Amino acid sequence: MVIVLGIESTAHTFGVAVVSGGRILSNVKRVFTTEQGGMIPIEVAGFHANNKNEIYFEALNEAEIDENKIDVIAFSQGPGLAPCLIEGMKFTKELAERLKIPIVPVNHCIAHLEIGQLTGAKDPVMLYCSGANTQIIAYASGKYRIFGETLDIGVGNFIDTFARYAGIGFPGGPAIQKLAESGKRYIELPYKVKGMDIALSGILTNLKQKLESGKCKLEDLAYSLQETVFAMLVETAERALAHTGKKELLLGGGVACNKRLQEMCKIMCRERKAKFFCPEPSLLVDNAAMIAYLGEIMFKNGIKFKGKQIEKVDIKPKQRTDEVEVKWK
Ligand code: ATP
Ligand code: FE2
Repeated sequence: MVIVLGIESTAHTFGVAVVSGGRILSNVKRVFTTEQGGMIPIEVAGFHANNKNEIYFEALNEAEIDENKIDVIAFSQGPGLAPCLIEGMKFTKELAERLKIPIVPVNHCIAHLEIGQLTGAKDPVMLYCSGANTQIIAYASGKYRIFGETLDIGVGNFIDTFARYAGIGFPGGPAIQKLAESGKRYIELPYKVKGMDIALSGILTNLKQKLESGKCKLEDLAYSLQETVFAMLVETAERALAHTGKKELLLGGGVACNKRLQEMCKIMCRERKAKFFCPEPSLLVDNAAMIAYLGEIMFKNGIKFKGKQIEKVDIKPKQRTDEVEVKWK
């Protein structure tokens, strides 16, 4: 059986995982965090460089395999922050050269979708809600296509920015979910859906203004934020289900950890007789297991770079989901 090492480094997470025959043997990660302000890509890349060896050996130990048993290395090629992607790719190439094995470049967003197979999803519409990305992705005529997306910021960054503004720390998602549970009053917020796309920056401004006014409780704003923005996500996902005729909805990305979002998706799926799938939290947030998992599928379909070909492989910070040639389906 093929043993695949996966490496994830698109943003704040550096992860290494071992997958074999579609089974996750280990999935180790370390996440860069800041008390204040956003992430400075060069600093995050430094964090990755400092931690990569330790995480690598931890992943091998947990999987109980020797590095000489690895057959191929899959790594996140994009999209993501260039300095972070470069760290992952450099590490991949060094290992590949030392162990004399091939590499497989993987698209991070498609990996979020393919790992859904572990939950039983076969041909889903994926609602991918992470920090930087908010997209509705599904397979159609030979490619993974983006049917809808945010026109400005990702839903995770939107929640985190509001949470930082309200002084409740980072990451904001879990804190907002907790506050929302004690919110009682629904406060009307702008609702911004265009076809299968959404826009969030106007809602963010409106939320800040309402908080500043001193007339709204933070927990009511957290509750209203979730009810409004998740309804927008569910509406666009439902439209994509109707448009594609697919019968499965898969959640992905860190925001998918949110219990209320999961519940709203479940209700929508029940009403339109679609199946709902949601991987466990460690596979929703950025992780290397999904990279190794998709890497194994691609490798088995003949996609690999070896020897001199490896030099030509580069990162793709702005890679779009529909640019990827899907030869494995
Ligand atoms: P990308 O995958 O686009 O590179 P990312 O790495 O920032 O983005 P993830 O690691 O998938 O994204 O997710 C992080 C986001 O998930 C953060 O914005 C965080 O606030 C959010 N999040 C985590 N738990 C919850 C929750 N329970 N409710 C809402 N949001 C949550
Ligand atoms: Fe991600």
